[in-house]
Amino acid sequence: MARKIIIDTDPGQDDAVAILLALASPELELLGITCVAGNVPLSLTAKNARIICELANRPDIRVFAGCDAPMARKLVTAEHVHGKTGLDGITLPDPTMPLQESHAVDFLIETLRAEPEDTVTLVPIGPLTNIATAMTRAPDIIPRIQEIVLMGGGYFEGGNITPAAEFNIYVDPEAAKLVFGAGVPLVVMPLDVTHKALTSRARVEAFRKAGRVGPAVASWTDFFERFDKEKYGSEGAPLHDPCTIAYLLKPELFRGRHINVEIETGSELTLGMTVADWWRVSGRAPNATFMGGIDAEGFFALLTERLARL
Ligand code: RIB
Ligand code: CA
Repeated sequence: MARKIIIDTDPGQDDAVAILLALASPELELLGITCVAGNVPLSLTAKNARIICELANRPDIRVFAGCDAPMARKLVTAEHVHGKTGLDGITLPDPTMPLQESHAVDFLIETLRAEPEDTVTLVPIGPLTNIATAMTRAPDIIPRIQEIVLMGGGYFEGGNITPAAEFNIYVDPEAAKLVFGAGVPLVVMPLDVTHKALTSRARVEAFRKAGRVGPAVASWTDFFERFDKEKYGSEGAPLHDPCTIAYLLKPELFRGRHINVEIETGSELTLGMTVADWWRVSGRAPNATFMGGIDAEGFFALLTERLARL
């Protein structure tokens, strides 16, 4: 029986690779894609999600537009990383598949109420605005969620949008605080892990040869990597978001700890920081499996093999 998931996303080249990996994997049943404002404004993330589905020849996937701004702050976007369109690197045709009528938050609520309890996993790979808004509007869905596997945060790696905060958490820290405090089983893929999932020339060339979608994926990572190479002097780009899907497929690729993670929402200096009690000194109850290690070779082998199936 395939595992039912909903991907909540702000595509974003790395989001695109995560969505393609999910679509290439029969172990997963993608109930829908909910889009949120993040890397680029909502109108573009909702368009990009459909571009990605059509690239994978999956116009049947239901794509929903969600929140166009954080719960309590102005939107911060990341065109400096992802380009004006959010999917810079290759120009693909505008989507012809329709956006679903319902709002993403309504889809999340209705689906979690309709599916049997404890059978739907949420995979947020952008700011947590949609998820937190659904939880606020319908608290009854919280105990029905099987697990949340999200990309966000950082501890040893610090932040990537400020010295203290990672982008997804920073954009909507109030939403993150709510999700991390909801009591849902939570797996976190922070920069501590994703910065070890780095592309390289060889890995990108392997993408390029990976079936029909390979050239697009290689073009996206070629574009996406320039920001991190310049900033960190790394050889390649961290493939942040696909780590969530890879975890669902092969959790043994990852190593982490079940610890307490709190979100800073009061200090402008450290706003959006994931205060990860890695050494368990706070006495606060653990609320997340916070990942710290990855088998990068195994991750790229899985990703390349699956992409070639599309
Ligand atoms: O900090 C990395 C995260 O921010 C990724 O999800 C990327 O797509 C951006 O949304
Ligand atoms: Ca993302």
